[in-house]
Amino acid sequence: MSSSLDAYLQSQAGSDPLRADVAETVRQLCLAAIKVRNTILSGGTGDTLAASREATNAGGDIQKELDVLADRVFEEAAKASPVVWYGSEEQEEPVAANPTGTLAIAIDPLDGSSNIDTNVSIGTIFSLFPVGEEGRANPHAAFLQPGTSQLAAGFFIYGPQLLLVLSVGNGTHVFIFSPAFGGFVEMRASVDIDPRAKEFAINASNYRHWEPQMRSYIDDCLAGVEGPRERDFNMRWIGSLVADCYRILVRGGVFLYPGDARKGYAKGRLRLLYEANPIAFCVEHAGGAATDGVTRILEIVPDGLHARTPLVFGGKREVERVARYMADPASLSERSPLFGKRSLFRA
Ligand code: AHG
Ligand code: MN
Ligand code: MN
Repeated sequence: MSSSLDAYLQSQAGSDPLRADVAETVRQLCLAAIKVRNTILSGGTGDTLAASREATNAGGDIQKELDVLADRVFEEAAKASPVVWYGSEEQEEPVAANPTGTLAIAIDPLDGSSNIDTNVSIGTIFSLFPVGEEGRANPHAAFLQPGTSQLAAGFFIYGPQLLLVLSVGNGTHVFIFSPAFGGFVEMRASVDIDPRAKEFAINASNYRHWEPQMRSYIDDCLAGVEGPRERDFNMRWIGSLVADCYRILVRGGVFLYPGDARKGYAKGRLRLLYEANPIAFCVEHAGGAATDGVTRILEIVPDGLHARTPLVFGGKREVERVARYMADPASLSERSPLFGKRSLFRA
């Protein structure tokens, strides 16, 4: 498959054998993504693909048919790549792929499962990093590296267009699958996120479960031009991380999935290794920022393959403002006494 993606991958790999392995792995992931896209197109978004299975995944989420199908397709792609360990949202333990490989992959084979039967964009999120000598024999050592160790990360979006958002550590670029061409071609080079956010993305139904600092931040966005922000905001929540992230890459904004008081949600819903880290890698290489509300995502050392983390990402200045609210809203100069604790959400 020769396409501007191929040319891009080769130009980034140069003569570095490890980067050549990254390029080959991305090529295999692309072939797998085309298979998943074709399954979705042929199976449509009807019941079959969205059918819940009796099983749950490591995170306790009910598995949909397409979750399992995508996991199988990407596991095969990993076994056709220089990948030693395949760590998937859909499998409790890492899967051994090629012992002579150089990489480990952490993957969310199907992101946005709740949208499968609603014909809303869904995706696949992946993170590639060096397996390391200790990690070669011991997968847990391989997967317990901070996100700064990533060599490449990205995500596919199965939507009106099949897109690949990719960073190999040198900017973040968008490629589109062209059926006529039979491969991926570059659509947006070097994405640059607007540092100011005009939109926020959060599941507002969880409002009553958030910490007061998070409620204050959202209250102030909702107060708009009459509030301490002195400007209006728009809100979007798609429920597919890949789609919300792509919108923010393209037109700015901030995404928040905080920890909350629900059982099992103290660290939010999203997983560090195969959702937050790859998203943070792409967002930072697009000039944005990604934290757990306060701490840079890429510096968090995971305590397991399925570790969860709160996630805030988007325009750099807005992510920094969220961190000030989370540190201590009372100290915020932006919150004049006039606004105090008034909230539009509380009756
Ligand atoms: P997954 O389908 O892989 O479990 O991911 C779903 C995630 C993410 O895509 C999205 O941002 C978030 O779950 C939505 O969570 P809520 O349903 O709680 O809003
Ligand atoms: Mn997901
Ligand atoms: Mn998933």
